[in-house]
Amino acid sequence: MKFFVDTANLAQIKEAKDLGILDGVTTNPSLMAKEGIKGKNNIFKHYADICSIVEGDVSAEVISVDFEGMIKEAEELATISPYIVVKIPMIKEGIKAIKYLSEKGIKTNCTLVFSAGQAILAAKAGATYLSPFIGRVNDITWDGIELIKEIAEVYSVQMFDTEILAASIRSPRQIVECAKYGADVVTSPLNSILGLLRHPLTDVGLEKFLQDYRNSQK
Ligand code: E4P
Repeated sequence: MKFFVDTANLAQIKEAKDLGILDGVTTNPSLMAKEGIKGKNNIFKHYADICSIVEGDVSAEVISVDFEGMIKEAEELATISPYIVVKIPMIKEGIKAIKYLSEKGIKTNCTLVFSAGQAILAAKAGATYLSPFIGRVNDITWDGIELIKEIAEVYSVQMFDTEILAASIRSPRQIVECAKYGADVVTSPLNSILGLLRHPLTDVGLEKFLQDYRNSQK
């Protein structure tokens, strides 16, 4: 399973990269706005900076909702770096754009996915990645992990090449469940990735080993 970090914050991306387990980055317009990145030139420069840190797939989202606009944006974004993956919303025009871009060899990430039916359409159109939003499904009392299971089953039966990129992750436990039920990639905030490290028995055990070593050296 690949690990992506879900942020546009360069310090957090560097920290995740330094861990040695980072495969890519996902961003969205809300995450870019959170970093205060404004204007096309600054946005493009920021994506270029992210690509140079991560040296892996970096999702950059279009803000157009019509086919022509999405294609124009996608083709411009793709010039930034070979690592750029163009994020396209799961709407009718988006499916047309994914089909067009996949035939042009431009990588895509179909975003805002909330059902297995949407997942089938994206795979048929040739999306590189599919982003089901686990946390937002749970926010409305449905089950995001059930969505991952259903999509993983459909993709396996149909032998689709599109990779399931579990998004909208809110906890380390959700990372484990996505891994268990067939996500190819999990994108999560840095604190959820770091949360995987934590176990009280590790802390207690390490303290005991170090204390015993110190005592033996007296
Ligand atoms: C990433 O691809 C998604 O845009 C992101 O995970 C959404 O997360 P959120 O639901 O916490 O905003």
